[in-house]
Amino acid sequence: MSRAEAMKPRGFGQTQRKDLWWLEPLVILLGLSGYIVYATWAAFQGQFYHWGPYLSPFYSPEIFGASPHSWFGPKPAWWPSWLLFSPAFLILWAPGGFRFTCYYYRGSYYKAFWADPPGCAVGEPRKSYLGERSFPLIFQNIHRYFLYVAVIFIFLLAADVWKALWFTDVQTGITSFGVGVGTLVLALNVIMLSGYTFGCHSMRHFSGGGKDQLSKATFGLKGYNCVSCLNRNHMRWAWGSLFWVAFTDVYVRLVAMGIWTDWRIF
Ligand code: FES
Repeated sequence: MSRAEAMKPRGFGQTQRKDLWWLEPLVILLGLSGYIVYATWAAFQGQFYHWGPYLSPFYSPEIFGASPHSWFGPKPAWWPSWLLFSPAFLILWAPGGFRFTCYYYRGSYYKAFWADPPGCAVGEPRKSYLGERSFPLIFQNIHRYFLYVAVIFIFLLAADVWKALWFTDVQTGITSFGVGVGTLVLALNVIMLSGYTFGCHSMRHFSGGGKDQLSKATFGLKGYNCVSCLNRNHMRWAWGSLFWVAFTDVYVRLVAMGIWTDWRIF
């Protein structure tokens, strides 16, 4: 094939590639779709999101709500009566927005959901390239601000793990220190989300101090290297934390419904 022929624009989906280039976008499409369906369903439930000292991460922090974890008591009186209420509605915009604008997810769902591009060296569905410098994708630049909120969420979820160490006996009302399987599930969730959040590209930029000299890095050279190390595996942290945060909700939900038993380790 001549060079000119190789450079000729291809029709949508046309390619010379012989590998399974469509497999990764397909897996991403199925994985993200499954997560969005489950998270939306769980957010709409408004029940079975807490058990004992455990609170599902989809509902944390619980700003208003019926559980003992609620900061300001039950559903506020000003909430419109025609509008469905769930404590998750008040907070899920933050982790949702953080993931939606993540550089890794952007690259993957642009391919998987609207095939633009479907893959490297594969024909695109449109001729013009608008990129992220024009409307509407310019809003993706809000990612660094979502990062600030996501870091606050890490501390709030860590506080939930601390609370998950204190069990109240329903008979005696006495609260004592303990570790249940649920405590470990919640703790691993914080570890996974921390690995994802602190390996963020914006965090890497921030930890580098935006300066030319790494000796002046915001968290020192060690901090920068640590963030860079997490960043190199950002895709793995992204998927691991996505799966585990959903599983944590499943765990709390099934225990609250009485389907699973939360075993106390000590
Ligand atoms: Fe993925 Fe920031 S780039 S979380």
